[in-house]
Amino acid sequence: MLEVSDLHVSYGAVEAVRGISLSVTPGRVTLVLGANGAGKTTTLRGICGLLPIRRGVVTLDSNQIGGMSPHRIVRRGMVLVPEGRRVFAPLSVLENLRLGAYTAPRSQFDADLARVFELFPILSDRRSSAAGLLSGGEQQMLAFGRGMMSQPRVMLMDEPSMGLAPAMVDSVLNSVRQIADSGMGVLIVEQNADVGLEAADDVVVVARGEVVFSGPADVARSHSSVVRAFLGEAALAETQPRAEGR
Ligand SMILES: Nc1ncnc2c1ncn2[C@@H]1O[C@H](COP(=O)(O)OP(=O)(O)OP(=O)(O)O)[C@@H](O)[C@H]1O
Ligand SMILES: [Mg+2]
Repeated sequence: MLEVSDLHVSYGAVEAVRGISLSVTPGRVTLVLGANGAGKTTTLRGICGLLPIRRGVVTLDSNQIGGMSPHRIVRRGMVLVPEGRRVFAPLSVLENLRLGAYTAPRSQFDADLARVFELFPILSDRRSSAAGLLSGGEQQMLAFGRGMMSQPRVMLMDEPSMGLAPAMVDSVLNSVRQIADSGMGVLIVEQNADVGLEAADDVVVVARGEVVFSGPADVARSHSSVVRAFLGEAALAETQPRAEGR
């Protein structure tokens, strides 16, 4: 459904993404793994129209969407759940979900909301709470739910595990799996191989803006030392905490 071929994205003269290709299919999770600064966020922002594409082709269901504005891309059925969640802290859970629905037909709001509450019962329980009072994991679920309210067929998720306690990471990964199992195509970006590989079907490892490995997740799992070397994790102590809030 989503095909990205030879994507190039630059910041002025700096080429941050240099020829990345990947695909996302319904019901599957494609993982982009890469170290800090590898170009993961830039890739996602290029795909969904938030940054201009210098070269390459992006198609959604065989239609060219490269170069379209972000809101048109959302209407076409692809939504980005951004790095750091970005929920509107003073607004209630319900108001945040309503904001996600602005491109979807009003007549389908109740059904879409019911679907989000079924997947994330905690959001239903806390629908009147200010989003800023939710835990990090709950805020991530709200960010997913808000994305789902636009009726996407493809969801892009930028480091959903970032800054969460391990138990919450598992629960967020479960949600990612459930979203894919509902038939959506999911593209998830992570910098931690352990976290990302748990949820993935297909993997693309990126280093310095280029693809260094692309293949099924089982292959990546069985060659995890190679994947770790690409991520520079080999040199890190296992216990080193992940950076938060960048
Ligand atoms: N606004 C910007 N202007 C100039 N360079 C940028 C900008 N944003 C990112 N870069 C550079 O582009 C490269 C890729 O950055 P990007 O944010 O895509 O990495 P990332 O893989 O998402 O990293 P992280 O894991 O830290 O989120 C980095 O070298 C970064 O310094
Ligand atoms: Mg990033």
